[in-house]
Amino acid sequence: MIGSLLLLNLICHVHATASNSLSDCIKLAKNFKTTCSSGPVSNIIATTGTDVTCPSLTGMSCPGSTTSGSCVFQHKMCVTCFKSGSVVKIRVQSNGLPLYCPHVSSLFSETNLDFVVNFNPDVSINSPNIKITTQRDINSVVCNVSGEMRVPKASNYVSYSSPMVINVLAGVSVDGVAILNVNNRDSQDPFYPAKGPTEHVDQCLVHCQEGGLLHYHMGSGCAKYATSSTKVLPCASVPLCKSSIATYSINSFSNYKTLTVIGIAKDGHIIYGPYLSSGRQVKSGFDVCNGMFYDSIGNYAYFVTQTYPYITGCFGPSNYPSVRPSCTKNPPSAYTKQKNT
Ligand SMILES: *[C@@H]1O[C@H](CO)[C@@H](O)[C@H](O)[C@H]1NC(C)=O
Repeated sequence: MIGSLLLLNLICHVHATASNSLSDCIKLAKNFKTTCSSGPVSNIIATTGTDVTCPSLTGMSCPGSTTSGSCVFQHKMCVTCFKSGSVVKIRVQSNGLPLYCPHVSSLFSETNLDFVVNFNPDVSINSPNIKITTQRDINSVVCNVSGEMRVPKASNYVSYSSPMVINVLAGVSVDGVAILNVNNRDSQDPFYPAKGPTEHVDQCLVHCQEGGLLHYHMGSGCAKYATSSTKVLPCASVPLCKSSIATYSINSFSNYKTLTVIGIAKDGHIIYGPYLSSGRQVKSGFDVCNGMFYDSIGNYAYFVTQTYPYITGCFGPSNYPSVRPSCTKNPPSAYTKQKNT
């Protein structure tokens, strides 16, 4: 009797707890391309990073200095896990510059990305942070460039980032590049807008915003594999990227057909590429925010999808309504709850 109560207690405990120990956090942090030996640092921009040499970047598109005709900049990143009382926190610090040479011709500059948040906080499918019922609800949350300005209180998010990114930052990629809210400034899908123009990116699916901040709105394998010797053309010069950027995005993960960390969201939840550990591509099971309870112990994470919002649409968990966002021509066919949770 006591034995089975203990067992039941153990099972319930296991089911209710996400993987958010200090060692879980340290394991996650190893996926990031860090350049500091111990963190957190007081100012990531003031640290020495890894040189990236890019002959293709000139003038205001060089975020470093030009040495014998080549732009040389530094990728700087520090990811630190620590305990505050019983809570494990993660500090993510980056100067926003990758290890590859993006194809940009506008202002491209170093930007301070720096926040601390509870690591992979426990959340429940039965108490969503966001409940969507109507078309109006889903548009105001997901089709909203400022929709990820506020982070759920339970994440204890504190930002030390440059003020220009605070309203639009959704997370940080493993290569130190900002992941911004999916929408353009008119709160439309930048790649399949229901109305208005389509935005241009390069083959790594990045571009710069006015202030020079390089960012992703869609998953890109470049975050995992690209180096300064990777040839990066404009997306429009690559046939599949030009004709079907969402398919191109998924194809860029062809060497990562397993559960693959691609970043961390501002709410402390992990962002994975488009595949589960089984090798299955995530095409269902996610909520309005693109988040999913993907295992049996209550871990909630965001996944790269072929449909809008591609990485994160809001900070979940959310629910599985029948309405879909109307600012995109590429919405998911439905929101469905993952079966094995
Ligand atoms: C967009 O999101 C912000 C932040 O949550 C909110 O204050 C604003 O009302 C939303 N905009 C619309 C049009 O719903």
